[in-house]
Amino acid sequence: MGVGDILLWGVLPYVVLAVVIGGTVWRYRYDQFGWTTRSSQLYESRILRIASPLFHFGILAVLAGHVMGLIIPKTWTEAVGVTEGMYHFLALSIGLVAGVGTLLGIIMLIWRRRTTGPVFMATTKNDKFMYVMLVAALLTGLGTTLISVFDHSVPDYRQTVSPWFRSIWILQPDVAAMTAAGISFKVHALWAMGLFAVWPFTRLVHAFTAPVHYLFRPYIVYRSRDHRSTGSVPVRRGWDPVGTQDRDRSAHRNRAGTRR
Ligand code: HEM
Repeated sequence: MGVGDILLWGVLPYVVLAVVIGGTVWRYRYDQFGWTTRSSQLYESRILRIASPLFHFGILAVLAGHVMGLIIPKTWTEAVGVTEGMYHFLALSIGLVAGVGTLLGIIMLIWRRRTTGPVFMATTKNDKFMYVMLVAALLTGLGTTLISVFDHSVPDYRQTVSPWFRSIWILQPDVAAMTAAGISFKVHALWAMGLFAVWPFTRLVHAFTAPVHYLFRPYIVYRSRDHRSTGSVPVRRGWDPVGTQDRDRSAHRNRAGTRR
């Protein structure tokens, strides 16, 4: 274990965490109008209708796989009767389907972006950089899975990468565990950290806004006449959320609470 290992697996994760948290707070405070997916649905929706859910449901499944593989210790899954063989069969089959689905989704999205004139015009350098980071994270992830299938000499990630990942959160980074991991896992984890570091500064920031509100939102978002601005109710400074019934109800409750 050298200085390089300590820097990569003992220091870098915390630098990345600081950038993610600091960057997100900064973006929220100074660029709320830019906190958006910059949806291009108005320009093209035929391919988007298939590619977007494919990508988004795929990445949610990939995320679920990572929670299972990185956060849940091997001893726990064994305690509930999931053998090593069963675990790897599930990880491989479901993981590959999820990973390939996600990759297919993003390839379709990028192809749509390149071939649909207005969508391409709306694509910034920042977006292109983000696509490279995202696709490379997916490819290196799929690479780790495939390499482990064919090369049985690669150390089990549940005894190397996973303990290291968990150790970060208790502020006792297990550098030795990650140092012992296969090179493909190291490349993947490094790339993922790079992706996390740029996350708050790209369109990916929209992922931090859980779209629960979408369930209650009208199909067309419109601003109705604002009755509050007339009469004796003081006008609040700044922007109000676009009027939808659920938000209006909670805003009404809050106002009623402050008047009491
Ligand atoms: C520090 C963060 C991360 C770590 C430590 C990590 C670790 C791993 C490990 C150990 C595997 C192998 C799973 C298996 O073969 O069963 C894997 C697979 C994979 N990873 Fe990651 N990963 C991280 C972040 C990411 C991110 C941000 C993405 C995508 C945006 C990603 C995408 C994938 C994909 C597509 C696979 C293939 C298997 C699957 O679909 O789950 N990973 N990762």
